[in-house]
Amino acid sequence: MPHRVLTGITTTGTLHLGNYVGAIRPAIEASRAPGVESFFFMADFHALIKCDEPDRIARSSRAIAATWLAAGLDAERVTFYRQSDIPEIPELTWLLTCVTAKGQMNRAHAYKAAVDAATAAGEEPDANVTMGLFSYPVLMAADILMFNAHQVPVGKDQVQHIEMTRDIAQRFNHLFGQGQELFTLPEAVTDAEMELLPGLDGRKMSKSYDNVIPLFEGGTQALKDAVARIVTDSRLPGEPKDPEGQALVTIYDAFASVQQRAAFREALRAGLGWGEAKQQLVALIDGQIGPMRQRYADLMAHPEQLEAILQAGAAKARAIAVPFLQQLRAAVGLRPYTATATTATAKAEKAALPVFKQYREADGKFYFKLLSAGGELLLQSRGFEQGRDAGQWVARLKREGYGALTADAPVQREAPDATISAALAAFQED
Ligand code: TRP
Repeated sequence: MPHRVLTGITTTGTLHLGNYVGAIRPAIEASRAPGVESFFFMADFHALIKCDEPDRIARSSRAIAATWLAAGLDAERVTFYRQSDIPEIPELTWLLTCVTAKGQMNRAHAYKAAVDAATAAGEEPDANVTMGLFSYPVLMAADILMFNAHQVPVGKDQVQHIEMTRDIAQRFNHLFGQGQELFTLPEAVTDAEMELLPGLDGRKMSKSYDNVIPLFEGGTQALKDAVARIVTDSRLPGEPKDPEGQALVTIYDAFASVQQRAAFREALRAGLGWGEAKQQLVALIDGQIGPMRQRYADLMAHPEQLEAILQAGAAKARAIAVPFLQQLRAAVGLRPYTATATTATAKAEKAALPVFKQYREADGKFYFKLLSAGGELLLQSRGFEQGRDAGQWVARLKREGYGALTADAPVQREAPDATISAALAAFQED
């Protein structure tokens, strides 16, 4: 089973250089690694929690989608979608809401911050709290569990949400899994770099500090203007400078090779003026961002292209979400009446069971595969010289179920482990 990595960006603004260095660039790099299956999405349902300006949400979603693609995301290779195109996510949110302890949500940082702010202002504790804000972590859990992500790259402020996701998943598995892991327990990945890019004033680059360098908006000129505002010490050109701890140098590092980093430091120690250093920084960043900015402008000028890419992404995501949600609905008891095992329905039920298919390929070898009730590929065998060997493996998987799927089993997993184990369990029941 490939390793699944998933992350989302809330669509309430445009992205700055810190978002690019801390989130987008590493995510795209990681998505190119073999054996990794990446899921990236615009968290526009989450945006509704923080923002009641419809145009802003629409604009932001479009700009963030264009940013991912301009920065080099391969939408063919990864699954790239808008959260709001996947109706299974709010449906899963409800299933999860029903097993989530309210007490645990009371302890969520974002909710507590809102309560503290209201209390400090002399208002009712819940004065500014919507149910959306309160339930925010459950929606996020649904994002992650819907695709059984193993790893979730996030900023430190989001780690608590991943822990909550694990708790919710565990509880759901325990209540409804009948011994099977319906949900994979995800892990938060916080890259040190993620937090590190300083803003103009040396504090973390963040919209709320008004210290950001824009990524694409405003072109090279806006980049120049922002870099000109980076705070440095007041040493003059010709005076030796200490590069360590300078925001300018840390930002330079984020775009530079090891050699460039060393040379830049050396030049500052030898007296390079801050003005000149800033010009070098602009040239360095623009060398990398400039071509992307052009692609960004093209994509923003062609919303129909963006829309088509996201529709394709939604179809890909739903190919996973729809059958999985079907399984989860059945697990909690939301089942067609015909699913009760009686003689009258046995045939219908049989049709809805997963199947093993055995066949021979042009290479002369014998193969088998396991298909879900919906026809989705779950397991694919390697080729066997003897048809008998393929048949024995099928029998063994039917008999022993998921336990027979050891690391050296001659099959490739093509679906989440939870889906495969549930499908195999169906053979032991009859
Ligand atoms: N809450 C995240 C943030 O504000 C965005 C987000 C929504 C997310 N759903 C997610 C991140 C799922 C990772 C996984 O940064």
